[in-house]
Amino acid sequence: MPTAIAHANIALIKYWGKASAALNIPEAGSLSLTLEALSTRTTASPIDGLSDRLTLDGQAVSGRPLSRVSAFLDLIRAEVGSKQALHIQSDNHFPTAAGLASSASGFAALALAGTEALGLRLSPQALSALARRGSGSAARSIFGGFVRMHAGPVDAEAESYAEPIEDAKIPLHAVIAVAKSGPKTIGSTDGMEATRLTSPYHGAWISQVGRDLTAAEAALRGGDFEALAELAEGSCLAMHANAMAARPGIVYFQGVTLWAIETVRALRAAGTPVFFTVDAGPHVVAMTSPEAVPQVEAALLGHEGIDGVIRSGPGLGARLVPGQ
Ligand code: PMV
Repeated sequence: MPTAIAHANIALIKYWGKASAALNIPEAGSLSLTLEALSTRTTASPIDGLSDRLTLDGQAVSGRPLSRVSAFLDLIRAEVGSKQALHIQSDNHFPTAAGLASSASGFAALALAGTEALGLRLSPQALSALARRGSGSAARSIFGGFVRMHAGPVDAEAESYAEPIEDAKIPLHAVIAVAKSGPKTIGSTDGMEATRLTSPYHGAWISQVGRDLTAAEAALRGGDFEALAELAEGSCLAMHANAMAARPGIVYFQGVTLWAIETVRALRAAGTPVFFTVDAGPHVVAMTSPEAVPQVEAALLGHEGIDGVIRSGPGLGARLVPGQ
């Protein structure tokens, strides 16, 4: 019974737009850091019968989450010509339950445990392309540390995969300011599609991503923290500006998000190496040097709208581990 662990990741140059929604092919690349503190552990056990089963954090689950997992396993079964059903048992290890649960760690762990259970051996690159079919950001969670996602052509889906950036020279830790949960907003898949179809800024956003990726990789390799900070904040704000410009506009920020952004910028202006990024939700992720983590954490806890912080260093890539 293969068991795999994978970690979530935080994008510094964001992915926001699909060239193919059916194949989950991104319109542009992206760049992320895998996060040690947020992980998913998944076991895939062969079972009798024709239907898969799914247990999430100890609870049997059916409906949409199960059909998404089954459709993903069908891709592997089609590859090896198998009809073997699986029981997928998946546990998220996230320090708080604040809507941070990520499809990235989930589908990366599922890709590895599922291929192992069904006897499909893939290269890391092919495993990354497979994980992408579950969720775009999962392709990046196959690898540890800094990771670069490539956007290939729609008719060559194996060319949209991630790979690690080996020679990055900026040690970065994350301090996630967990916002008290507000009203639920639109998920990333629907949000991206609505933005692509209706935002007048979308074309400009996509062409900017290419330039940002080249510059961010150079900043990482050259150890230029300031340059990376400006690029990552720019990518985050441009992604959100693009989503806000959809009709109707998509707003992930809450009041406390803006407060945390200001707090991070004030710290940097005063000399602390820190910058912010925000995914499709209200939580601000402050990226900082390992030494400055306590100071950044103390500053971000100073607001009643912040539930707490999660600290994380870089995480490893998806891997098989001994089962329970
Ligand atoms: O791959 P998804 O559907 O989890 O979308 C990820 C979208 C963002 O988190 C907002 C950006 C990113 O690159 O991770």
